Amino acid sequence: MNVATDSCFIGQRGEMPDRFCSAATWERADAQWPSHEPRTLICTRVCAETHDVRSFVFSTRDGQLFSFEPGQFITVSAEIDGKEVSRCYTISSPPTRPYALSITVKRVPGGVMSNWLHENMREGLELKACGPSGLFTPCCAPAAKSLYLSAGSGVTPLMSMTRAALDLGLNRDIVFVHSARAPEDIIFRRELSHLCALSNKLRVVHICEAPGGEPAWTGPVGRLSLDLLMRHVPDYRDREVFVCGPAGYMEAARKMLREGGHDASRYHQESFNFAPPVACPPEPLAEPAVQSGFTVQLARSGRSFTMDASQTVLVAARKAGVPLPSSCSQGICGTCKTKVLEGAVDMKHNGGIRPREIEKGMRLMCCSRPTSNLVLDL
Ligand code: FES
Repeated sequence: MNVATDSCFIGQRGEMPDRFCSAATWERADAQWPSHEPRTLICTRVCAETHDVRSFVFSTRDGQLFSFEPGQFITVSAEIDGKEVSRCYTISSPPTRPYALSITVKRVPGGVMSNWLHENMREGLELKACGPSGLFTPCCAPAAKSLYLSAGSGVTPLMSMTRAALDLGLNRDIVFVHSARAPEDIIFRRELSHLCALSNKLRVVHICEAPGGEPAWTGPVGRLSLDLLMRHVPDYRDREVFVCGPAGYMEAARKMLREGGHDASRYHQESFNFAPPVACPPEPLAEPAVQSGFTVQLARSGRSFTMDASQTVLVAARKAGVPLPSSCSQGICGTCKTKVLEGAVDMKHNGGIRPREIEKGMRLMCCSRPTSNLVLDL
């Protein structure tokens, strides 16, 4: 296995103007990877970031460039023990380096996909992916001063944002506070230190629960707290805050900031701690006559199936043996985003799709029920 011992992306400051505030900046190659289209990625490198975290770097098989916003994620799929398994991983590489895309994965006990990637993925192997998706991006909330808070592998979207900001030479003041169990668990430690040396606009604070294998650790010890935040980031109330980590960490961070007087409208968080998919309950329709007999045609594959309006398109497709990409099944992740070419659906999502995508005719199949016959761009 080709495992490098260094972080994959140690960047140089760019000369680009401040374009971070516009989502359009990252849309120049929009046609290259529409978020509803699966892609086959080729692994070009595997990097050991810590003892249990690796970055997997990919390119596309046909050499297309990647286009995404910093902070977004992809959904990867693999057949593991005879079953198709899909998981969301935030992209850790920046969109400013569009020839490669990396995900950074911590091996966790019982983690089906994370363990499979650690044990199997190596240079030259393929991986199916959908995306990019996600709304956790600074493009939606540009600010002169930001505070990035992360714990564990929650560092990845914030690393993409940091790398992109540095690559673009943005005039942004970023404080990056990352929590880890011990110094040896700090992901991207060396690279973040290097980026701090390159830019006086970036400051990094690492908090460790314990000195672990580094008794000489001089950084803060303990957990993120308001006291600690006030000591290291006294102007935190002036900052746009982006938080990523385990659910408990984010809940504590949100509460801490609220108690500390931070404006909740400037708080953004990411999480892939999806609850187990829940079956979408059938919703009674006003006109019982429309509950049956809708035909769904898939324009590209030529397949079709029939369904009634008591089910989501995703559930009906599965029952008909037509696999559609999906992950959360709750309208959150955006993996099942599909363009409706003809017909209409009733969609009740949970933030996994943007208004401009809806305007373009995209819908989330996991939370859409037909109100007419459909033709989908699949
Ligand atoms: Fe996540 Fe549909 S599967 S939004």
